[in-house]
Amino acid sequence: MGLDVRVITETEFPAWLKAVRRGFLKTSTEGLQEDAEVRLARTDISRVRGAFDDGRCVATFRSFAQELTVPGGARVAVDAISAVTVAPTHRRQGLLRRMMATDLAEAKERGEVAATLIAAEYGIYGRFGFGRATSFTEWEVDLTRSGLDHHGPLAGAPDGSRIELVDAEDVRKLGPEIHARLAVRQHGAVDRAPSWWDRHTGVGVSPVDKWTEPFYALYRSPSGEPEGLVTYRVEDDWSDTKQPRDTAKVSQLIAAGPVAERALWGFVCSIDWITTVRTGYRAPDDLFPLLLPDPRAARVVTHADWLWTRVLDTPRLLAARTYAQEATLVLDVRDPGGFAGGVFRLDASPQGAQCVPDTRSADLTLDVGDLSCVQLGDESVERLVALGRIEENRPGAAALADRTFRTARRPWCPDIF
Ligand SMILES: CC(C)(COP(=O)(O)OP(=O)(O)OC[C@H]1O[C@@H](n2cnc3c(N)ncnc32)[C@H](O)[C@@H]1OP(=O)(O)O)[C@@H](O)C(=O)NCCC(=O)NCCS
Repeated sequence: MGLDVRVITETEFPAWLKAVRRGFLKTSTEGLQEDAEVRLARTDISRVRGAFDDGRCVATFRSFAQELTVPGGARVAVDAISAVTVAPTHRRQGLLRRMMATDLAEAKERGEVAATLIAAEYGIYGRFGFGRATSFTEWEVDLTRSGLDHHGPLAGAPDGSRIELVDAEDVRKLGPEIHARLAVRQHGAVDRAPSWWDRHTGVGVSPVDKWTEPFYALYRSPSGEPEGLVTYRVEDDWSDTKQPRDTAKVSQLIAAGPVAERALWGFVCSIDWITTVRTGYRAPDDLFPLLLPDPRAARVVTHADWLWTRVLDTPRLLAARTYAQEATLVLDVRDPGGFAGGVFRLDASPQGAQCVPDTRSADLTLDVGDLSCVQLGDESVERLVALGRIEENRPGAAALADRTFRTARRPWCPDIF
């Protein structure tokens, strides 16, 4: 019997979820049924795909509706892809390719301007037209070397502002508004459904994810507005019996603006007993290291690609963002997948843009994957020209594209999905 690749039914969902766990090399079936019930309630089953071999689920793929912030603050509808697995018994037979082709075609049909994902391995998705659009950096700081007087009073927060230790329930109530304020100023951010706040405050978390209750601290502005939130867990270390050497591991720090952001970092770095802070996955140009008197005390633990995007509709995506300056560029976008290709004239400006099909000769010729890399402003067109990936047909076009596309602050996606 051949492989059956299709949308699954609700009754197949537990078996599908088991296949996802296996695909991510987890054997535990602990709490699988309850986990399936919780997840099913928030899942659009019409976008959950599986491959079945003699009734056994051997490949999984799911997509869901997402909003992505582009430079300038507009939020565009995209196709978020997740839970991609193929059993080791069925790998390299084209199952991912088949599921991806169907999903992208459906996303295009729905009018979504791009697809997004976080790649487990760098080499998987470029062939499907995805490009690395954001990256992250994680730092670890030895506070005793940072130059901060972390035993002194908290400095730097505006008079009248305050930090409150709050409970999970407060986070579910106040977090979405703070996140919404971050999401309009941070290109690369994606929306968070209400279920995100449940899962990240311990509600309906699968036993395999081994939830431990974190600390939550809220920043209130002098007028009492909740404007920032930090979630952290503490690892105790009393191995030196005379003094504590605890580590605070930040899992999220979101803020409506830089004042709240600075205040929350200041708070985390001033907690008694804490001598090490791990920042979690931050924007590569995060304020954090430069808040320390000695930024060298912040060691980079990891730096890697994060959100990948796949342009599905070139004119609509490029017209949704703003640009650093006024410029006109003609782009010849090559897309073997057949979704985003064509020659387009982009009339860009700091207020917005128009992007329409054009018949002129192109200033730049590029594959859809490279457009996917540069569209949020993080990658340099000149660098991709130097790598032989983008063709510069008019001298100076790459530099012009960089001055136009690149953003003063780098894109960042605070979430994994
Ligand atoms: C990644 C994974 C889903 C690929 O599935 P698959 O069905 O083997 O992929 P396909 O057979 O459709 O491969 C399509 C192409 O991608 C290539 N490819 C697949 N996985 C790759 C990988 N990990 N690295 C590099 N290339 C890869 C294949 O060689 C093939 O190339 P070709 O078109 O030149 O022949 C599967 O290996 C897997 O489940 N890995 C473990 C879980 C995981 O990492 N999932 C991704 C989460 S983001």
